[in-house]
Amino acid sequence: MIDLHSHVLPGIDDGAATIEESLGIARAAVADGIAVLAATPHVREDYPITAATMERLLGDVQAAVAAAGIPLRVVGGGELSLEMVAGLPFEEVRRFGLAGNPGYVLVETPYRGWPLEIEQRLFELRTNGIVPVLAHPERNGEVQAHPERLERLVAAGTLVQVTAASLDGRLGRRARTCGLDLIGRGFAHLLASDAHTATVREIGMSAAAAAVGDRELADWLTVGVPGAILRGEPVPPRPQGRPRGLLGRLRQR
Ligand SMILES: [Fe+2]
Repeated sequence: MIDLHSHVLPGIDDGAATIEESLGIARAAVADGIAVLAATPHVREDYPITAATMERLLGDVQAAVAAAGIPLRVVGGGELSLEMVAGLPFEEVRRFGLAGNPGYVLVETPYRGWPLEIEQRLFELRTNGIVPVLAHPERNGEVQAHPERLERLVAAGTLVQVTAASLDGRLGRRARTCGLDLIGRGFAHLLASDAHTATVREIGMSAAAAAVGDRELADWLTVGVPGAILRGEPVPPRPQGRPRGLLGRLRQR
């Protein structure tokens, strides 16, 4: 599997604090069946890191992972807030390209509310040749209440990342129901761990893929789409499947 959202870089955000913790996440990722992990540190007002800092720490982690003999490819990225998307030059945004691909950038969904500027910011990225990948909207209360809000964004080319811990229930029933709902509606394109340490929001990608229930759909979410982003290939068409048991789960809401 290919996991394109993690806080594996040491000492710059609320993820790994030390290089040892970075290696702990790397080992946990491999144990969960991950071959490629993107380092996507927060890039926002409280963690205003630069692309140059991300690139330097990425090199440190790649060297440490290789020295420790961990069979994991670590690639770059960033998790940009809407404010940073608005404020940074597009050349700097491209240096935070997801999986090192300057044509994609991971954008953090606000945890509360649904700012009117979301559509505008994502549209600006698209018109500058950057595909936005919206991180974990299933954790946002407005999206949980109105999942159809994502329809226009997705139709306009935004990709949506659902967090693994949402699907297996670790982030609560609402995040799980909404995450499965987004996948069922075709509004979600990839799963990722958003791992912060080896134990807090642990990787859990294999459990999330199992929670999807449909093997072909789970492969598309964990290999097909993230692999296409990694290699700079067109995103493969979504298989027809739906999460197993989705209707039953929705009725429990
Ligand atoms: Fe994150």
